[in-house]
Amino acid sequence: MYKILASTLFLGKEVIYMPSCHSTNDLATDYVRKGDKKEGIIFITDNQTKGKGQRGNTWQSEQNKNLTFSIYLKPDRLPIAKQFYLNMVASLAVAQTIRYYLPESNVKVKWPNDVLVANKKISGILIENSLSGTAINSAVIGIGLNVNQKAFGPTRASSLMLESSKEFFLPSVLERLVNALEANYLLLKSGQFEQLKNEYLAMLYGYQRKVRLRAEHEFDGSIVDLEENGLLHVLSDHQRYVFDFKEVSFLLS
Ligand code: BTN
Repeated sequence: MYKILASTLFLGKEVIYMPSCHSTNDLATDYVRKGDKKEGIIFITDNQTKGKGQRGNTWQSEQNKNLTFSIYLKPDRLPIAKQFYLNMVASLAVAQTIRYYLPESNVKVKWPNDVLVANKKISGILIENSLSGTAINSAVIGIGLNVNQKAFGPTRASSLMLESSKEFFLPSVLERLVNALEANYLLLKSGQFEQLKNEYLAMLYGYQRKVRLRAEHEFDGSIVDLEENGLLHVLSDHQRYVFDFKEVSFLLS
């Protein structure tokens, strides 16, 4: 069903499609462990049965309805201290793709890398890095994007279809998303850190805007900065707080 991508330079020139698998991130990790592989290979399935999410959560996706795929990258020994640029590359690409299909909608990135439409989650990203010394040797970027799924039970989630009442052809959405990923990744490879960060901040939920957060307790605050390792700076009551992953979450209204 999924073909090699014709419109990209180097991502998606090899596509490994499995009708069903546990997790495309695990598939990618196992495959590349067997030998040195060229970057850009995509692992994709129509039925992910044990999808992995951030913080040990699972990722549920209805069979044949959504995109669930992983892409293998070798980010030129990006220092671990700059690892968050990979999150920016991926979440920006997803957000830009959604914005293309839903130009009227409010598309935001929720730190670190969920993508929201009208304050509902439409995509999640799981990045698994392989380190060597103080640098990232390779990374598996796993993306789940809700496309044609219509019901999510009690979960506060959405899909391209729910937001537009249209049905989408999954390979076309994949191709657009991977093109966006490649464009952002090329910015990273050419050291355009500031541009990436500015574009990410421009799409970030709560950036320079008061939102509700939860750390040890609930409070109002606004994001004022982001470090290249991912640490988040929040201003609340004239005080600046710095949060690591898992230390703070956003309460969506
Ligand atoms: C999250 O929001 O918690 C991250 C979800 C990441 C889901 C994707 S789907 C493709 C890839 N394979 C996985 O097992 N997880 C990621």
